[in-house]
Amino acid sequence: MDETAILHVDGQSFELPIVTGTEGERAVDISSLRASTGLITLDDGYGNTGSCASQITFIDGESGILRYRGVPIEDLAARSSFIETAELLIFGELPDPEERDVFRQLLTENSALHRDMRKHFDGFPADAHPMAILSAMINALQAYDLPEIHITDNIGFRRAAAALLAKTRTIAAASYKSHIGQPIAYPRYDLPYAENFLHMMFSVPYRDYEPTPEVAHALNMFLVLHADHEQNCSTSTVRMVASGGANLFASVSAGVNALWGPRHGGANMAVLDMLEHIHRDDIPVSRYIDQAKDRSSSVRLMGFGHRVYRSFDPRAQILKEAAHRLLESMHIKDPLLDIAQQVEESALADDYFRERKLYPNVDFYSGIILRAIGIPTDMFTVMFAIGRTPGWIAHWKEVHDNAGQKIHRPRQLYVGEPLTQWLPPAQR
Ligand code: ACO
Repeated sequence: MDETAILHVDGQSFELPIVTGTEGERAVDISSLRASTGLITLDDGYGNTGSCASQITFIDGESGILRYRGVPIEDLAARSSFIETAELLIFGELPDPEERDVFRQLLTENSALHRDMRKHFDGFPADAHPMAILSAMINALQAYDLPEIHITDNIGFRRAAAALLAKTRTIAAASYKSHIGQPIAYPRYDLPYAENFLHMMFSVPYRDYEPTPEVAHALNMFLVLHADHEQNCSTSTVRMVASGGANLFASVSAGVNALWGPRHGGANMAVLDMLEHIHRDDIPVSRYIDQAKDRSSSVRLMGFGHRVYRSFDPRAQILKEAAHRLLESMHIKDPLLDIAQQVEESALADDYFRERKLYPNVDFYSGIILRAIGIPTDMFTVMFAIGRTPGWIAHWKEVHDNAGQKIHRPRQLYVGEPLTQWLPPAQR
């Protein structure tokens, strides 16, 4: 017999079905609750609310498990390229060599920006935040790249997905070049994704930038680890916008904006700022941790804590080792890495963090890697956005392909003024 949950309200009992996911996680299906009881559920911040059923990414926060389409993140980080990972997320399977070549070619053909789009970069003030430029330019891509706003077939979708992946990278590098007053570098057609980005960031007219294999590998891994994370704030935003029928570029542009905040993708910048602050002002780590524990202060230990992971974030573990390896290969001694380790050790030994199950998250060590590669701090969240683009595209497609998709429209509990009389200005 199918399992049900029983809800007792006003002397009546209501049966609610229990549904089970692939990995045995269970959910009470409340979709008929309001119709049968007149009640809604209240879950500020959605900590207990499943907003959809999805086939893309599995997370077990208690055991620190993350899988894309069933494949463990550890395998992908060690063995897959970012583009192969993107194909896995977006199309549902690891590509065979032929599919990989076809998609690579599509990326190559779609990596340059329309000539007229380049003018937009001149329109932004020199000190514009690169996230503002990225979201605006991704939105503008629709006007240049998607002749019909609505994608109607698989060929059109593949081309739009490839264009978005390739051009997000081109826009990010071009915004940096505009910001530092250098000419925009064109994409090269002979380079893999991560190397091509580094070329567009760091090549100058008189010298091509050639990354070491270690640098290219670290960036590729960073991107793979950020590629999806199921219903986080920005991905939920993409799904929400997509549920209204908005096109791919508009939906992903909304995701970029959602990512910007310091409690989400902006945390990687905040971690570096925090470590630099501790270093520059010679603050004892123990004092900083005390401030983060003090509920009357606004200080939080950035890069610590996660809504879903309650034991460890597997991405943080991989990035911690990767940061050490990269710095060693580059012969860099970074005092911020030492401080990060001290912060991690002190926090993990502290009851405040243990009781609340607060562990380093993906942002804690990623900034050290980006800094070693030479990415400026204000580009960190843009790097996260480049990495997350495959996930946003995959979720947009899942919503788009769902014939029974409803528009996302949560309810609320109104706690404002009761019926109030309108008064003319003189009587207010
Ligand atoms: N430092 C100090 N205390 C913290 C921290 C932190 N980083 N994170 C949570 N807490 C405390 C809260 O003050 C709260 O304490 P209380 O129970 O005494 O009131 C308790 O832990 C629970 O915190 P919530 O904010 O309710 O946890 P939530 O799951 O809503 O938040 C979040 C998760 C936003 C990630 C939070 O841990 C945080 O702000 N961390 C720092 C920012 C960060 O690193 N964000 C990146 C997340 S990963 C990503 O988006 C890619």
